[in-house]
Amino acid sequence: MIKEKFDLTGKVAIITGASKGIGESMARGMAEFGATVVVSSRKQAAVDEVAKQFQSEGLAAIGIECHVGNAEHRQALVKKVIEKYGRIDILINNAGTNPYYGPIQRMPMAAYQKTMDVNVNSAIELSNLVQPFMKAQGGGSIIHISSIEGLHPSKMMTAYNISKTALIMLGKNQAIEWGKHNIRVNMICPGYVRTKLSEALLADDATKERLEKNCALGRYATPDEMAGMAVFLASDASSYMTGSTIVNDGGLLHAPLF
Ligand SMILES: NC(=O)c1ccc[n+]([C@@H]2O[C@H](COP(=O)([O-])OP(=O)(O)OC[C@H]3O[C@@H](n4cnc5c(N)ncnc54)[C@H](OP(=O)(O)O)[C@@H]3O)[C@@H](O)[C@H]2O)c1
Repeated sequence: MIKEKFDLTGKVAIITGASKGIGESMARGMAEFGATVVVSSRKQAAVDEVAKQFQSEGLAAIGIECHVGNAEHRQALVKKVIEKYGRIDILINNAGTNPYYGPIQRMPMAAYQKTMDVNVNSAIELSNLVQPFMKAQGGGSIIHISSIEGLHPSKMMTAYNISKTALIMLGKNQAIEWGKHNIRVNMICPGYVRTKLSEALLADDATKERLEKNCALGRYATPDEMAGMAVFLASDASSYMTGSTIVNDGGLLHAPLF
């Protein structure tokens, strides 16, 4: 049955940056479809709280702290998951940061470096850590959370834009390298989603008005509106998809020129 292809029972999923926002919703979605989810972020207390909530609803979840920019944390995360469950089927590189708003000309290289470390380099390193386990299991699904900011330039987000474009090409390269091991790698590009990360941007009335006007659906997304795609890409329902980039932006990238 095609419906069964969405079932994630027996699969173990790691989601970085999952204590709130889009990551939390994607973790919930995958747990509701039967996966055991490893909720991860920088703060153990925050991920424990999410995992406890999921468990109270009958979902399978644990929380493991991991600052994705820290090599020891990344290694410990993968080691703990393998020790506890013996497998990793799904990795969602979702944790992201945007410490600098402004032009490239004035961009502090330290802010650029931090953005690349958290948004891109961590995804390279974490993928490399899980790849041998996925390969030995006969496959897996890796999902990078990019952004429409990786497809379209902005005058404000510079380092963030560059990092989100890099994630897309990272995934395409991984897809062609690891397809022979049945490891699929795909990217999701959300438009504007109401979360802590977008709070500052959406707090500006003029920006908010412009975004709402240009977005075909005339509104921002909720984090839950990103979760279905994660379930799809994690599951056998997308078994022939790899190296693809899915845009989920309410039509914002199609803003009319006239
Ligand atoms: N919101 C949007 O409009 C939007 C649009 C396009 C793409 N995105 C992308 O979607 C992803 C999630 O964003 P969001 O809006 O859901 O953000 P959010 O609500 O601010 O949540 C960010 C999550 O990442 C964790 N985190 C932050 N830095 C981390 C690090 N260095 N290591 C591990 N975890 C870290 C945070 O938890 P702790 O504080 O506990 O670590 C939190 O769980 C990001 O990659 C973002 O670029 C967002």
